[in-house]
Amino acid sequence: MVEIELDGKQMEVAEGATIMDAANQAGIYIPHFCYHRKLTIAANCRMCLVEVEKAPKPLPACATPVMKGMKVYTHSEQAVTAQKGVMEFLLINHPLDCPICDEGGECQLQDLAVGYGASGSRYEETKRVVTDKNLGPLISTDMTRCIYCTRCVRFGQEIAGVMELGMIGRGEHAEIITFVGKTVDSELSGNVIDLCPVGALTSKPFRFTARTWELTRKPAVSPHCGLGSNLTVQVKQNRVMRVLPRENEAINECWLSDKDRFSYEGLNSEQRLARPMLKRGGAWAEVEWQVALDYVARELKRIREQHGASSIGALATPHQTLEELFLLGKLARGFASGSADFRLRQSDFSADRHRTGAPWLGMKIADLNALERVLVVGSTLRKDHPLITHRLRQAARRNMQLNLINPSPGASRRASPQERTRPYSSATWRSTTRPLPSCTSWAWWWPS
Ligand code: SF4
Ligand code: FES
Repeated sequence: MVEIELDGKQMEVAEGATIMDAANQAGIYIPHFCYHRKLTIAANCRMCLVEVEKAPKPLPACATPVMKGMKVYTHSEQAVTAQKGVMEFLLINHPLDCPICDEGGECQLQDLAVGYGASGSRYEETKRVVTDKNLGPLISTDMTRCIYCTRCVRFGQEIAGVMELGMIGRGEHAEIITFVGKTVDSELSGNVIDLCPVGALTSKPFRFTARTWELTRKPAVSPHCGLGSNLTVQVKQNRVMRVLPRENEAINECWLSDKDRFSYEGLNSEQRLARPMLKRGGAWAEVEWQVALDYVARELKRIREQHGASSIGALATPHQTLEELFLLGKLARGFASGSADFRLRQSDFSADRHRTGAPWLGMKIADLNALERVLVVGSTLRKDHPLITHRLRQAARRNMQLNLINPSPGASRRASPQERTRPYSSATWRSTTRPLPSCTSWAWWWPS
């Protein structure tokens, strides 16, 4: 630990920490754009300039390590003048289109412009315009608003594991682009929308449908993956308008997979069956819930009397809540043989005999990062569990060995070599005489 003085207060900070870390520890806010605690340091926006005693000029808090006896002033005249200067430069080319920008109300640049921007601009020349890019069906671009913080670029490299965005050109000619003709397709791509501190990258499905202050926020848990990512569901007039990550370091950190982020669109789909229907005279007709429930109860009673209780079973989607599944089980036990299941896509149940309780990972999700060796059987990791893939990738960058057994090609674009096998039933798997290669002989290193 080293002792420093921050805004007149003595404090101890871990050796190697930056001034920004120390400020976060002390609960002092330093304005910033390119800094994000989950990404590497780029120090390219210069918004976090602070005064450091004996330093000849303001230093970027996000990139300056603390040193013993350092005296830092985050809100001194010198620091605030530097921060205001940076803000003036950032606003030179930024369009004044907040009233029609989807980021309005939750924009870091807008917020900081209130604190550090001037009421008028001294820049009289023509503003620069950058053409928008097609990033695919999920992310909308207004690249003239970009301030080149490179958060989106670093996210691709460091978290998603696919470098889909990059920066070309310098100064006035800098631009964020995709590879020629490519869209952004990673399973975590939507996170760049949250990361972008301005309205350059916004959500295409959400675009122009609501303002952030019109939305009510409900905490929820993802129904789409076994991870149970924490979500905030944002609702307007009883309609889900968008889904954002709710931070939980033990599960999804501050990220969300695209399927969790955008699958709410299915809720609002016109193709969705939202009202009960009965077939009458060969044609489907909408009916009231009571009419439909009476009909189902009558038919179930008739079937039970004619064919016995064992002829009735209940199948439910695992996307139901625990409470709903509990009620269905209760209904099945009271009315029918008690047969109820949610494993709609499982065809081999032979492992049930050898298992007690519910299958689970067997360890905390956060501990995946610390594993030394992992053998993944039958999962296309990137598609099935994008955020577990992210944790394994972080571990692989620290020398974890990852081995995959998968019947389909492309289980992981980066894993090599992979072992491909025919799909086995669990019985065949146990009786196979084919020896598994040792883990170490399959070792591969995920490129950094
Ligand atoms: S698009 Fe957004 S996140 Fe990417 S560099 Fe520009 S401002 Fe930063
Ligand atoms: S936040 Fe420090 S330079 Fe951008």
